[in-house]
This record gives sequence, C-alpha cells and structure tokens, in this order.
Amino acid sequence: MLLAFELTGEHDTLPKAEVLACLNALCIVYDTIMFLKGILVIDAQIRPETLAVLANRLGMTHRIYEVNGMSEPKEDAILAMVKNTDVYKCMEKGSTFAVRVPKNSSYPEKQALIAQVGALIKGKGYNVNLSDPSNTFVLLLTEQTCFFCLLLHSTDKKRYGARKPQFRPFFSPGVILPKVARALVNLSGINENELFLDPFCGTGGLLLEAGMIGALVVGLDVQEQMVRGTAENLNFYGLTGALIVGDAAKIALRDNCIDAIATDMPYGRSSLIAQAGFRPSLERLFPDALAEIHRLLKPGGKAVVVSNFPYSRSLRHSFRVLETYVYRVHKSLNRYITVLKKV
Ligand SMILES: C[S@@+](CC[C@H](N)C(=O)[O-])C[C@H]1O[C@@H](n2cnc3c(N)ncnc32)[C@H](O)[C@@H]1O
Repeated sequence: MLLAFELTGEHDTLPKAEVLACLNALCIVYDTIMFLKGILVIDAQIRPETLAVLANRLGMTHRIYEVNGMSEPKEDAILAMVKNTDVYKCMEKGSTFAVRVPKNSSYPEKQALIAQVGALIKGKGYNVNLSDPSNTFVLLLTEQTCFFCLLLHSTDKKRYGARKPQFRPFFSPGVILPKVARALVNLSGINENELFLDPFCGTGGLLLEAGMIGALVVGLDVQEQMVRGTAENLNFYGLTGALIVGDAAKIALRDNCIDAIATDMPYGRSSLIAQAGFRPSLERLFPDALAEIHRLLKPGGKAVVVSNFPYSRSLRHSFRVLETYVYRVHKSLNRYITVLKKV
C-alpha cells in the first residue's frame, strides 16, 4: 500500500527522518517512493493498529494518507485519474465525503478542481458532507505529481500546543518545544517498555515525550531543583521516572543498560554548574559525558545529542555518526542535532 505523509514545514529533512526512524523502530519494512516539498510517499504493508501507533508517535507530521492514484498535476490528467480510481474499495455504500487541497498548495484553480473531483465522486453514488464527512479525499500536488489520497490520520495540533513548556508546573527558559522534543525522542528509536535516558534532563521535556510513547524514563541533572521540577512535570502528565541528581560525566548505572538516549547539552557557561565535583568547563564536560553515554548504551543503541555547536570528530568515542541536522531556533541560536549509534 502507498502511504503519503504530509510533513510539517519547520525543517527540510527532520520530519522525514522522524517518520523513517519510527518505521524502523516499529520494524516496518518500507520503500521510499518520493520525498519532495513536505510530502513523503512510501510503499509498506502496515496493519491499521500499527499505523495508529505510528500516527500517535509522530511530532512533525500533519497527516497520513493512503494514496489511491497518481497523475501529472494537470486538470485533465487529474480528472481522468480520479475517474479511473476504484473509490468503492475504500468507501462504504451511502457514506459521505469531502474533497480538499492543502492550503499551502500552489495549484492555481484549487476550488474549481475540488468541485470537479467532487462531482466525479458524487457521480459514483456518494453524498458530499463538508462539515463531518466519513471520508476525506485530498489532492496532494507537487510540481511533478498529483497524489489522490484518502485521509487516514490527522495529528491533533492542540495536543502539542497544550503541552507547551509554560503550561507545565515547572518551567525554565530555553526548553525545546514538545513537537521538536518528540521528534528527537523518535530519532533515538526508543519503543514502548524500553529504557530511555536523558543525562541533562533539565525540566524533563524529552523525558515527557519518551514517557508518553510508553518508554521507561531515567533522567539526570546536576541541579537538584531541575530534578525536583522534572518529577513535578512528569507527575502532572500522569508519568513516573527514575530521577537522579548527579554529574552526566559519571553516572551510577551499569554498562550497556540503556536502550536509547536523547539529550540537550548545556548551551553556555550559565547552564554549567561549576560546583565542587562537577565539570567546570564545557570542553571537558562534553567528551566525558559522551564517553558515559557510550558506556551506558546497549550495543546498537542510538543517542541523539543536541548542542549549540557542530559535533566534532574528536568526540566520537567509537560512535558511528548516522545523521546530522542544523535546527535554527532564532537568529543567534542554532541547535545541532547528531544521531549517534553505538557500534
Ligand atoms: C539545555 S538544558 C536541558 C533542557 C532540557 N532538555 C529541558 O527540557 O528542560 C541543560 C541542562 O544540563 C544541566 N547540566 C549542566 N551541567 C551538568 C552536568 N555536569 N551533569 C548533568 N547535568 C548538567 C543543567 O542543569 C541544565 O538543566
């Protein structure tokens, strides 16, 4: 079955990487058919219940569709394709429908096209219902192709909005937004009931997202107030975790015990706690913390490391660098995201 993912526009490649990481984590075999301008099309056999789990996990996908037909993005070709598509296989007798074209599509005569496609489907014996249709057909248009799709899952935008850091009981500035935190957690390949660690947990933003997909979370921060705040935040969303006050360069956990890690390193000297026993400089903390991350990860496990400078070769510690991304937060802050694998 062909599936199309309509991706959010906050980054060129991260949303796609998140989808592929989740497919791999859920052991779904797929072929990438096309990736262009916020649309990813794959060929995969996915059971409806697994697709629902995938849809629920993704942070940077708006909608998931089944692709029922493809044509050139020209009116005549689109109408011929819709006419020849067997809509009966996906629509029950007497059910209703709506046809939509995404707002950001550059197709010139959207309304006219919607009306013509609507008339064709109506002619097959179905009724239009624009407010609460049982089936929503969407024409995803790129410069080369029109995909005639049936909507399967839609992300509830409010879900991430409602979890904004300022709405949590414990807040500290500079926290990653929930949608991005979810994508980072997904890049780590973590699954339900596996052990997830954030060794610089701060207010717990990454732990919350990992906990919400069913992972068992372990958080560590050098500041006791952060660890207490993380406990409050987890509790607020009905989650629990093992939380430790300590130094990320020396963690009291045994070797190879963690399935996946995602962490957002301290950005500047202000977030570094130069108290007795803790690393007084970022230059020393980073390699030491990475060595610890490497020691704790199970072989084959992934660590997603976020920092405000590009990951350096000298820090590799036998990790294989799988992916790197630059995520622009604002004019003077880039976040560098590196996906590492313990080999
Ligand atoms: C960028 S913040 C993490 C923000 C976090 N992702 C959140 O959701 O709030 C970095 C955190 O690293 C902590 N930190 C600094 N030095 C540390 C060390 N040596 N060991 C562990 N945590 C440390 C800081 O207290 C701070 O909370």
